[in-house]
Amino acid sequence: MSTAPVKIAVTGAAGQICYSLLFRIASGSLLGSTPIELRLLEITPALKALEGVVMELDDCAFPNLVNVEIGDDPKKVFDGVNAAFLVGAMPRKAGMERSDLLSKNGAIFTAQGKALNEVAADDVKVLVTGNPANTNALIACTNATDIPNDHFAALTRLDHNRAKTQLAKKVGASVADVKHMTIWGNHSSTQYPDVFHAEVAGKSAADLVDEAWVENDFIPTVAKRGAAIIAARGSSSAASAANATVECMHDWLGTTAKGDWVSMAVPSDGSYGVPEGVISSFPVTVTDGKVEIVQGLDIDAFSRAKIDASIAELEDERKAVTELGLI
Ligand code: NAD
Ligand code: LMR
Repeated sequence: MSTAPVKIAVTGAAGQICYSLLFRIASGSLLGSTPIELRLLEITPALKALEGVVMELDDCAFPNLVNVEIGDDPKKVFDGVNAAFLVGAMPRKAGMERSDLLSKNGAIFTAQGKALNEVAADDVKVLVTGNPANTNALIACTNATDIPNDHFAALTRLDHNRAKTQLAKKVGASVADVKHMTIWGNHSSTQYPDVFHAEVAGKSAADLVDEAWVENDFIPTVAKRGAAIIAARGSSSAASAANATVECMHDWLGTTAKGDWVSMAVPSDGSYGVPEGVISSFPVTVTDGKVEIVQGLDIDAFSRAKIDASIAELEDERKAVTELGLI
């Protein structure tokens, strides 16, 4: 008996990130050998380029890729989808903050939130990568009035992975030994990468590094890594963003590794004093597709101030998109 394929929507499908992401999804990094159908959304002028990407997907002969549909109408492309990757949005250029993209990219997410609301499957999970990711997720979520809030998330897994590597390099360990890393707040330069709950090979990371390194090196390196990549490459991170995107949705559709947690920006339930509804990054675990914010972590005054600063920025962004009439 054949199983119906899982329908996966991806927007911005002819863009940089998707040139890596689509091939990761289709080759099994998301759902292993489960049959999948890709539904690819682009703006009309990019459909021709997208046809070329689809030719390349065909040429990979991925055994589990049952079908690929492309289009420029979100209501058609999102019909019946079980997972949606909202990647399509303009990337920032050198000298811009991600929040500078709000007015340009925000409107994309009102239309897509509404379309998902009308036609996606009831179990749809929506992961926003397009920047400013947290607030775009808030816009999509607010415009999808019938989809529960906890079906929306924004990507901070890239920051999480960046933080793990910086810590591992500093102490001369393998990234596999780094556990319990946390990114709090916004996917922006105000984010707070928190080493104080992290462990390296079972030892407290705080005992292995000094505070000056944390404050003057680790935090700014992770928080400004996106800008450093733009400065070096001339365009924003793509393969690492695709990797983080697929890892985040993979975990969200399943169960996170035992004995660890991951970072994901999810609608706050008020945990750690983050106002309800704000889409903030937290430490989370996932069990059979259900996300839970890790509870009970001690937050000292240093961490509290950093988290509060990032939440204040998210509140400002929420105010800005309210004023723009996007939510
Ligand atoms: P890109 O410019 O290469 O591709 C974006 C694609 O989106 C383009 O092909 C464009 O035609 C398409 N697009 C624009 N409007 C659309 C719409 N309404 N519907 C569907 N598609 C649409 O950009 P990229 O490098 O792939 O980056 C995409 C986004 O991801 C940017 O906003 C970037 O800043 C962001 N990003 C986020 C993270 C993260 O960690 N959250 C990391 C890297 C990049
Ligand atoms: C990143 O973190 O690499 C992306 O959000 C791109 C950017 O603008 O920094």
